Amino acid sequence: MKKIIVVYYSKKGSNKYLAGKISKSLSCESEEIKPWMNIFLLFLMNIHLGIRPLKLKIEDYDTVILCGPIWMGKLIPPLRSFITKYFSKINKMIFITCCGSTDAKRDEKFGYGLVFKEVEGILNNKCIICQAFPVGLVLPDDKKEDADAFMKTHLNDENFEGEIQERFDSFIKKVNELGR
Ligand SMILES: Cc1cc2nc3c(=O)[nH]c(=O)nc-3n(C[C@H](O)[C@H](O)[C@H](O)COP(=O)(O)O)c2cc1C
Repeated sequence: MKKIIVVYYSKKGSNKYLAGKISKSLSCESEEIKPWMNIFLLFLMNIHLGIRPLKLKIEDYDTVILCGPIWMGKLIPPLRSFITKYFSKINKMIFITCCGSTDAKRDEKFGYGLVFKEVEGILNNKCIICQAFPVGLVLPDDKKEDADAFMKTHLNDENFEGEIQERFDSFIKKVNELGR
């Protein structure tokens, strides 16, 4: 069985960037989740049409790293659809997000903590790691809590350094240690 695949959804590019960095660091394949229609509009209207079938066979992989943003404190429809559609084919899953919420606010209404609890609840013992990469980690201290600043900031080669790089390195180390 092949080891790891990265599956991601990204609207503005940060989660795509993160997914790309992970697949490069782990030398593994990746595939983008593609919803049937422009899902943001549908998300606002609370309509979910599901996702297109993936090309890669999820059951061929030991671990899926699922990566995507958080909107309005929710597990967003493309990520939820992926989990529901492929549940029986997922062996183990790692859930990661580049989101706006800071670590300090993780358990608030729009924090990543509630989404992690939901993912762990759905996947039960198949979910082995949940990890956040708040976009504020690439912002200066006085902008970390500034919603306007983090909404306008996207991960890229220029800003991916310091705290976020350290978090990324320890995440990759943890994933590499899983197989030992
Ligand atoms: C409409 C909207 C709602 C959002 N709501 C949240 C939220 O509730 N919690 C959070 O942590 N981030 C929230 N964010 C921030 C995104 O999760 C963040 O910008 C993420 O990095 C975007 O990922 P992408 O560039 O891959 O699309 C929201 C962004 C948008 C556009």
